[in-house]
Amino acid sequence: MKEVKNVINITDLSTEEIDHLIEIADSIEADPESYSDICRGKKLATLFFEPSTRTRLSFTAAMMELGGNVLGFDDASSSSATKGESVSDTVVMAGCYADIIAMRHPKEGAAAVGARRTTVPLINAGDGGHFHPTQTLTDLLTISRKKQLGDFTIGLCGDLMFGRTVHSLIEALLRYKGIRFVLISPPELRLPRYVKEKMDAAGAEWVEYEDLEDAMPELDILYMTRVQRERFFNEEDYVRLRDSYILTLDKLDTAKQDMIIMHPLPRVNEIAVEVDDDPRACYFYQALCGKHIRMALILYLLGLK
Ligand code: CP
Repeated sequence: MKEVKNVINITDLSTEEIDHLIEIADSIEADPESYSDICRGKKLATLFFEPSTRTRLSFTAAMMELGGNVLGFDDASSSSATKGESVSDTVVMAGCYADIIAMRHPKEGAAAVGARRTTVPLINAGDGGHFHPTQTLTDLLTISRKKQLGDFTIGLCGDLMFGRTVHSLIEALLRYKGIRFVLISPPELRLPRYVKEKMDAAGAEWVEYEDLEDAMPELDILYMTRVQRERFFNEEDYVRLRDSYILTLDKLDTAKQDMIIMHPLPRVNEIAVEVDDDPRACYFYQALCGKHIRMALILYLLGLK
């Protein structure tokens, strides 16, 4: 079988490759017109077995803006998964019709299973509570544009237990120097031990807080997350924990003036709408960065950049 490069976890990309993707994304932002035809005749298959707004739309927009085409499904119920077709067979089929695949699936490990049989590059667009590497790339691009990749204190707030974006982001940031991690969560939603062990192994400085206000003055970046209802085993626990943190304008009084507020989105209640107009809010810009970095990744995996 032909060797193809897949991106299942952020660890599938070296630091040099990530830096290269950021360079391409910046070049796309600076001169989008020069990329508008580069994927002519190429097709992206979006296989979304789980709901998505940003990831699917930004992959779609990315391929369209590169001059390519997009096919796929956004609901498992409209695919032959309902007839019992395996993830692996679905990926092989998509490779017959497309040059590259972006797949989201609710089951952890689904992307790795697909990667074993795929004949075209496969990008994991999220597999359950596991990995979401293109969100991590999005976050890295946003940080690189608003700050720099290194020498800052980042507060990660909310559901640190189930938040796959947080786990991947920490793993990626451990490659860069001088980053201090402030972990803000209720005791029930603390960061899993295995991620803390990775931070320790990398010699990273980290501290845990329960109260967002206590942590706020220290932060250069505040990364808010949603409590992940779909990952809870019972509704009662979700209801008890869902509003643990609600960022409002008054809570930002003690924050640094140049702090940036990030969120992978979707938000539920954790950032009040009034915060959107604060110059520190950059979560919608972050979603725009998601399109640029996915354009860069498509180009790279297709061997066009
Ligand atoms: N951030 C993110 O993955 O959003 P979607 O679930 O809407 O794709």
